Amino acid sequence: MSKIVSLDALEILDSRGNPTIQVAVLLDSGAVGISKVPSGASTGKNEAVELRDGDMKRFGGKGVRKAIENVLNVIQPAVIGMDPSEQEALDAKLVAVDGTTNKARLGANAILGVSIGAAKAVAAERKEALYQYLSPRENYVLPVPMFNVLNGGRHADNNVDFQEFMIVPVGAPTFADALRSASETFHALKEILHVKGYDTSVGDEGGFAPRLRSNEEAMELLRTAIHKAGYNIGSGIAINLDPAASEFFEEGTYVFRKSDKSKKSPGEMIRLWADWIERYPEIYSLEDGLAEEDWGGWPLLTEKLGSRVQLVGDDIFVTNPDILSRGIRCGIANSILIKLNQIGTVTETLRCIELARRNGYTTVISHRSGETDDTTIADFAVATDVHQIKAGSVCRGERVSKYNRLLEIEHELGSRARYAGHSVYSKWKGFEKS
Ligand code: PGA
Ligand code: ZN
Repeated sequence: MSKIVSLDALEILDSRGNPTIQVAVLLDSGAVGISKVPSGASTGKNEAVELRDGDMKRFGGKGVRKAIENVLNVIQPAVIGMDPSEQEALDAKLVAVDGTTNKARLGANAILGVSIGAAKAVAAERKEALYQYLSPRENYVLPVPMFNVLNGGRHADNNVDFQEFMIVPVGAPTFADALRSASETFHALKEILHVKGYDTSVGDEGGFAPRLRSNEEAMELLRTAIHKAGYNIGSGIAINLDPAASEFFEEGTYVFRKSDKSKKSPGEMIRLWADWIERYPEIYSLEDGLAEEDWGGWPLLTEKLGSRVQLVGDDIFVTNPDILSRGIRCGIANSILIKLNQIGTVTETLRCIELARRNGYTTVISHRSGETDDTTIADFAVATDVHQIKAGSVCRGERVSKYNRLLEIEHELGSRARYAGHSVYSKWKGFEKS
């Protein structure tokens, strides 16, 4: 049995230039596991607490020195001597030492760094890849990537209310082909934007962030780009949307502040999505189509569209098994977005995925808009067999690092790897691959 002998922690920067925490877990064998924790911008209200110093003299209050002190002075003495391969016991200890329901005392950033760092340390000690250590088996499925190529909302300084427009290469035979087709479409889109005189600089997740005539123009641009790159719209490259509706929900109404200033009731918002899905059948998935507070609207949305598209709950479920249970009982959504830092430990994340599965919900592993070069989610997506991952666009190092890690995994597995491909799309669209 290996033992944790020490922890170390460091204040590093994320992709937005804000501080975040890096944690190193050292074992008695000399093996080390390093974890760099991501950070969201359009965060759900019920996410586990990301501890920030609030000292305005440093990083505008965003420093993470307190979280570092908690790793070194509170968590370290509690976990020294523990077996890092006993992930459940380790995570239970972290939760107990914190003592709150939302990790407010020690910080989910501090706790998750240790939780993931421990898993990576054991994988390193056993000279195994993280996905193999987390789920040892013969064959693995590579997830279908969702590439956020057009950005709006909180992730971009433009006039588009909806946060993410994603292309999803469901028709590709391998992950490598999926990545290539996304890159080709991304470049086709760039050319189209350029010809139209639109801005081609990118937002937080590497998607373009032009000023458009309307939110819907983004859909037309995606269609044109997919077509120009030579792919079938829908069965070749499908579309997933994440409007992140919580961000424009104000006192029961959806307010399009960034575009035409119009307001919509929950019913009108549901009709908007029904209309889009009718006119753009390539939309197979819609994340956070309604706000996290809109528990009245979500069951209606699910009843109306739940048999035709994947309805992914991000802000509303925040990777929390208790909230997901409530959502399931209320008939909300049919899929959940999984972000490890929303809940704060590996064990609770796995529990949430398991609960979703048992109830017929699909699952999507996700990055955060503030990321680092840490590629844990790529291995995690393969290990948990979730079949879908969203990690941003096909540019910016912190996004591409996850996709490149998946390329590496597919390469090393060879014939033991299968790309999830069209199955994630045909579940909703009845498309059979010829
Ligand atoms: P966030 O955005 O990391 O800023 O929360 C990602 C998402 O909403 O899926
Ligand atoms: Zn989201």
